[in-house]
Amino acid sequence: MAHFGDFQNEIYGAGLSGTIPSFPVDFRTLEKRAEAALSPSILNYVQGGCGNEGTQNANVEAFNRWGMVPRMLVDCTSRDLSVDIFDLKLQSPVFMAPIGVNGEMTQDRCGDIAAAQASAAVNVPFCASTLSNTPMEDVSRATAETPAFFQLYTPRNEELAASLIHRAGNAGFKALVITLDTWVTGWRPRDLNTSNFPQLRGKVLENYFSDPVFRAMLARPPEEDLAAAVSAWGATFGKVLTWDDIGWFREITDMPIVLKGICHEDDARRAADMGVDGIYCSNHGGRQANGGIAAIDLLPGVVKGAGSVPVMFDSGVRSGSDVIKAIALGATMVGIGRPYAYGLAIGGAKGAAHVLRSILAEADLLMAVDGYPSLAAVREEGARRLD
Ligand code: FNR
Repeated sequence: MAHFGDFQNEIYGAGLSGTIPSFPVDFRTLEKRAEAALSPSILNYVQGGCGNEGTQNANVEAFNRWGMVPRMLVDCTSRDLSVDIFDLKLQSPVFMAPIGVNGEMTQDRCGDIAAAQASAAVNVPFCASTLSNTPMEDVSRATAETPAFFQLYTPRNEELAASLIHRAGNAGFKALVITLDTWVTGWRPRDLNTSNFPQLRGKVLENYFSDPVFRAMLARPPEEDLAAAVSAWGATFGKVLTWDDIGWFREITDMPIVLKGICHEDDARRAADMGVDGIYCSNHGGRQANGGIAAIDLLPGVVKGAGSVPVMFDSGVRSGSDVIKAIALGATMVGIGRPYAYGLAIGGAKGAAHVLRSILAEADLLMAVDGYPSLAAVREEGARRLD
């Protein structure tokens, strides 16, 4: 039986004939390579976060305060990392978090397609962002047989919101992930100091520019008057959602509904009571609020509040060990964000696929060495807090 961890044999085997990997397997080296590959404005946008970036740093550092206890004399020659969610059988709990500037991460500005191709190559579901350089229908096609999710930034214009949601369903996305924490952009010093906000420069707006409802809102199409199209986008971006709005989503789509940005146990409980299909614990990688508490430290409370509703998690995941710790703390699926974006920057679809394979291999090998043959065993043992 093949395992994700076999990737290391592949790497060592290739080394015997003098081939070393084209891309690094660890985050520190990966980030350094991405720093060299990206323009300063894009690098700042991806690497930077809110305020003094305390929360985004805490997201990463907090993983070091959770530990796994190895169990010995357990037969782990075979490991099962599969997950059942939204009527899908997935081969691992890992997914690609939505990143609105994927399109700008590759030289050809088709990074959304490259991300979708990486997803298809390694069979890791991609959550495509509303913000994209390529219309969602093409992105969905590029994910091929691998299930994909669509992340919605809900426009103020209800007709446009409905249009985006229906397009996502028709394009074959398997869940609607509604981001709750971004009706307004958080205070991001790196971007402010360089006065750089990609959307205002007409970037990553193709899902809007290709939308019939959005186009009907314009006097002239975006190809003829980009400034007016961007201004119309700015006017409709960022509906302020409240609990009363959730029923509307349920009425207009049969897709499983996931709420992204839930960090409080009571919010998780309320969302579960309302019948959502998934709860996504995330603090947007510390890009929105510099609130201070690492997302992984909030995960156990969210899992408790969610009850039987599956919890997706991201923010600060940098390695396979981090993935397993999040599973141990109750996540059903674990999202990779910046690491795969850096993979896109240094090697397009191949770079992102390499990053995902490395994370999966490390997760699998941690389970093998620590005596956990399944994710259920990881969850049963749990993670220990070190302080
Ligand atoms: C994001 N994230 C995000 N989330 C979302 O719902 N829609 C989006 O379009 C984006 N765009 C985006 C751009 C960039 C550059 C980053 C880094 C992040 C948040 C993303 O889905 C995820 O929550 C974070 O990336 C998790 O943090 P780490 O692990 O990447 O630090």
